[in-house]
Parts: sequence; C-alpha cells; structure tokens
Amino acid sequence: MRILLLTHAFNSLCQRLAAQLQQHGHETSIEFDIADSVTEEAVALFRPELIVAPYLRRAIPESIWSHHVCLIVHPGIVGDRGPSALDWAIQDGEAQWGVTVLQAEGEMDAGPVWASAVFPLRAAKKSSVYRQEVTQAASQAVLLAVERFSSGRYLPRPLADMADARGRLRPLMKQTDRGLDWARDDTATVLRKMNAADGFPGLGDTLFGQPCQLFDAWPEAILRGVPGEVIARREGALLRATRDGAVWIGHVKRPDGIKLPAAMAFAQEAAALPEAPLDGWWRADVATWQDIAYEECDGVGYLHFEFYNGAMSTAQCQRLRTALVWAKQRSIQVLVLMGGRDFWSNGIHLNVIEAASLDGTSAADESWVNINAMNDLALELIHSPKQLTVAALCGNAGAGGCFLARAADQVWLRDSVLLNPHYKTMGNLYGSEYWTYSLPRRVGEDAARAIMRERLPMTAQGALASGFSDAILGGEVDSFRTLVAQRASALAASAELGAMLGAKREVRARDEALKPLAAYREEELTQMRRNFYGFDPSYHIARHHFVRKSLASWTPRHLARHREPGWLVPPLGEAS
Ligand code: COA
Repeated sequence: MRILLLTHAFNSLCQRLAAQLQQHGHETSIEFDIADSVTEEAVALFRPELIVAPYLRRAIPESIWSHHVCLIVHPGIVGDRGPSALDWAIQDGEAQWGVTVLQAEGEMDAGPVWASAVFPLRAAKKSSVYRQEVTQAASQAVLLAVERFSSGRYLPRPLADMADARGRLRPLMKQTDRGLDWARDDTATVLRKMNAADGFPGLGDTLFGQPCQLFDAWPEAILRGVPGEVIARREGALLRATRDGAVWIGHVKRPDGIKLPAAMAFAQEAAALPEAPLDGWWRADVATWQDIAYEECDGVGYLHFEFYNGAMSTAQCQRLRTALVWAKQRSIQVLVLMGGRDFWSNGIHLNVIEAASLDGTSAADESWVNINAMNDLALELIHSPKQLTVAALCGNAGAGGCFLARAADQVWLRDSVLLNPHYKTMGNLYGSEYWTYSLPRRVGEDAARAIMRERLPMTAQGALASGFSDAILGGEVDSFRTLVAQRASALAASAELGAMLGAKREVRARDEALKPLAAYREEELTQMRRNFYGFDPSYHIARHHFVRKSLASWTPRHLARHREPGWLVPPLGEAS
C-alpha cells in the first residue's frame, strides 16, 4: 500500500514506523503537519491509500479524514483521550498502560479502534517510556491495524461498543495538576511527578527562589538535608532534600532559556554548594546520580554512560575518556561500552553549545572544543591494543554518537535500535569522530557516500546488512543486557581471543601506515572549522532551531518523496 505518514516531526517513533512499514513492503512518504492546505496538497500529490499519524499535536482536518482513512497513534489505553495521556498515567502510578490506534473523526481520539497494545508501565521518565514501551507497542499496533485495513474485511470497533475500555477523557495536565511540595512530598512522589513531566514540559518549580522547569530526576539513597533545600552538587546535577531523602535534578530550563545541566543553568548558586563526589568509576551499590559507572564480571569490563538525551558536552567527553583510560588499565581483555538505556550517544551537546552563544562566549569555540573532545575519546577507543572493544547499543544513536560507537572493534545492537549515522541535517555539518576512516572500511566508499547524502535512519537490521554493525541481540532491554553479557563473557573465555587481538593490532598498524588517523582527523576538522567559523552560518542556524524546537515550516525534501521533482503518482494498488 501507499501510506502517508502525517506527523509533527520525524521523531524516533515516526522513524521506526516508517522503517517497519517499508520492511513489510509498503511504500511510505512523510509530510509534516504544518497547515491544513499543505496536508491537502501532500495527499493530492501522494494519493495515499492510508494515512498514519504517529505523532500529531492537533486534529486532522475534516477535508482529509472524511475522504481517507487516517489512523491516529494515541499513547494511551483504549478509551483514553486527551493530550496528556502518558503524563496522567505516570503521575497516577498506573500499573499497565498502552497504545491505541484509532480512526480520526470529528471528536479528537474518540474514533473507532483499529488495534491496541498494552505494556506494564515502568516507573521511569516519560521520555524513556515513550522511546521504549510506547514505541514498541505502537509499532505492533500499527502493523496490526494496517494489516486489518488492507484485508478489507475488518470493521474498526466504535468506542461505545467496547465494554472493556478502561480509559477516559482527561484534560491537558497543567502545572497546578503536577503540584510539587518539597516539604511534604516524599522521594517516591517527587520522582513520580518529575518523571511524568520529563522531556516536555518539565515540572514547574523554583530553585534558589527562581522559577524554572525541572527534568531528569534520580533518587539518592544516602545524603539528606532539610526538606526543600538544595544540599549538594555533583558534576552537572543538583541534590535537593525531600521529606524522607533527596532527589538529584539533572537538568532545568529557566524562563526563556534552554534545557541545560542544572548546575550550569544555576552556575553561581551551584558554585557555592558542597561537591558530593563519587569514589571513582565503580558503580555505586546504592541509588544515586552516577552518569558514568564501571562494572566487571567474568573478565569483561562494562562502562555505562547515562548521558541525558545522549548529548555529550566537552566535560562529559573528557570525563568519559578519563574513565576509559582507567578501564583500559584493568586486567581485562574485553571492554564493553554500554552507553545509556535510551540513547547510546547523540554526539556533541548542542544545548551546551547554544548556551555559549547566549552567555557572551562563542558557540563556534564551544563547538570546536566539544568536537575535539569527542575525537580524543574516539581515538582513545580506537587505540585499545590490549582489549577487544565492543559498543553495545541498547538505545538509539545519532550523528557523531554512531561514529563513536564505530570506533569500537565491534558494534552490537538491540534489535529495535535506530541509528542516524549522518550529520547533514544539522545545517550541513561535515562531521568528525574519524567517520571518514571508520565508515568506508565497513560499508564501502559508495555506501558511505550514500548514507551521508541520504540522511535517513537505519534500522538494526539495515545496519547489520550494510556492515555498519556486527550483531543484533535481543529485543527487550533486560534480555539485550543478558545476551551482551553472555556474548562478551564467551569472547573473554575464547581460545581465539589472543589471535583476534593480534589481528586487530596488525590491521591498525597497517591502516596507520597507509594513512595516519591524524590525517583523517585533520581533513575532517578542516571541514568542521568551516562549519563553525566560516561564511555559511547554516550549522549555527540549524542548531538554534533544533535547541529551541522551532516549528518546521516545510517537510525536508529527502523525507517527502511525493515532493521530489518528477514524482509521478503510481496507479492505486501499485507500489513502486
Ligand atoms: N545535543 C543536545 N540535545 C540533543 C542532542 C544533542 N546532540 N540530540 C538529541 N538531543 C535532545 C533533543 O533536543 C530532545 O530534547 P528534549 O528532551 O528537550 O525533547 C531529546 O534529545 C530527544 O531528541 P529527539 O530528536 O526528540 O529524539 P529522537 O530519538 O526522535 O531523534 C536524533 C534522535 C539523533 C535523530 C535527533 O535527536 C538529532 O538529530 N539529534 C542531533 C544529532 C546531531 O546533530 N548531533 C551533533 C553532531 S555530532
């Protein structure tokens, strides 16, 4: 079938659905929901047999839904309606939640149901639940709905006939509904309220008497203080006491500001707080904020880095490099870089860079030191003669994050991971992280050029087929981690390991003789210097819009196939 994806943005859910529908033989094109007339134009150009809306912020116009079946993905159980579905579910502590695929009609989210899927609701950040459970359930339910639609025999079920529908209409959750009270709320309540607001819009509160929105909460098991007082800082995070413990606040957004590490957004106030350092890189055995954590088991080292949104600032890159250098001194022969649960890495920290343009320093300078810190980290990984290194991606990776992963000897992916191994969407950025070395040698020169040019997401299956990655392991987060540990332990115990390490050193020495890594770096950075300091401001403009979440005013042409010059509508039923 020809399926138009109508969406507010090409987010990871939309990317995943597009990839899955294509894998099932459907022809897809994408249009951003910009204006009714633009959507009407897209429908006229593409002539879809079905419209799927993975992520919309407003209703589909009647001119469209009255002539075409439009399937809306709603992140709520059957019967649930309203714009704050996940916020309410998390804040109310629901045990089970779900995704419903329903047909657009006059009343928002109230059309007949084509399919649904449920999942146990994890006590976690809304953004994390959205990227994991919601995305998984949505892809299941959408595939089922599409299958039912294409059978031509399935009648969607009107909500009124569904006696088992547990959901109900809930209003937009306002900040007054979120109501945080540091003096009265216990740690569990603070975490639940912050989790329900994570990603967007954040939990409205004050810090040091200043209004702000809070994000990125972590429990603290040991440190305590007077309820409501900010009692310590650790790297970018601030610790605030609750009635029965304390909560780390990782990120905040001040009015008219951008989302930043909390200790950076309140730099002066944070500087006056005591630092509460951790004792080295070993994973703490109690709950606390620890963005870099090391573990060892069966002769394998595991380096976790849980960086919010996968963004890696200069300081984070430098700290991770220090941890990597330390881990490489351990007597292990297999070292696995685990990244975080939701993201492995999304490259340089665009928000921290943007902040440099706001505080009177230079965004170009900050971009430059950040990319150099990323490169130093990638180089440290490539130069690991004593260990076989593995990047194990439980979460997605984008841009430089993909090539940091590729700096490891092997890349293992969870099977629902999406990669965006390209840079150009960020204002034609050339990219570094030694991608000109690592990508062609894995996928070939032509494929490397195509990946960079086409700027499309790559599924785990696509990454394996292209040679970008080496293995796909497991679907669920827990089973992925178990399989990673089994495979890494088997490698560490393997009689072949010595020979593998020998071969790795030989290949590296041969590659270095052919063309030193320093030359790749210099060539890439010559281009990046132009991106950062040159006449063309595209990167700075794109970063500004990305960080500020400016509304799109058109759909990128590489996504809207129906807007390509020469696009001809195939007759109905014939996918090209
Ligand atoms: N720096 C700072 N923040 C970043 C980031 C980065 N490099 N990459 C992603 N984020 C943030 C987003 O702003 C968003 O923030 P929010 O919490 O306020 O919503 C959050 O991470 C999730 O990103 P989103 O785009 O919604 O996630 P996605 O899974 O749909 O898409 C990417 C993932 C990687 C395709 C997309 O985030 C992206 O293009 N990132 C920029 C990559 C880049 O150009 N890096 C710099 C060059 S190395």
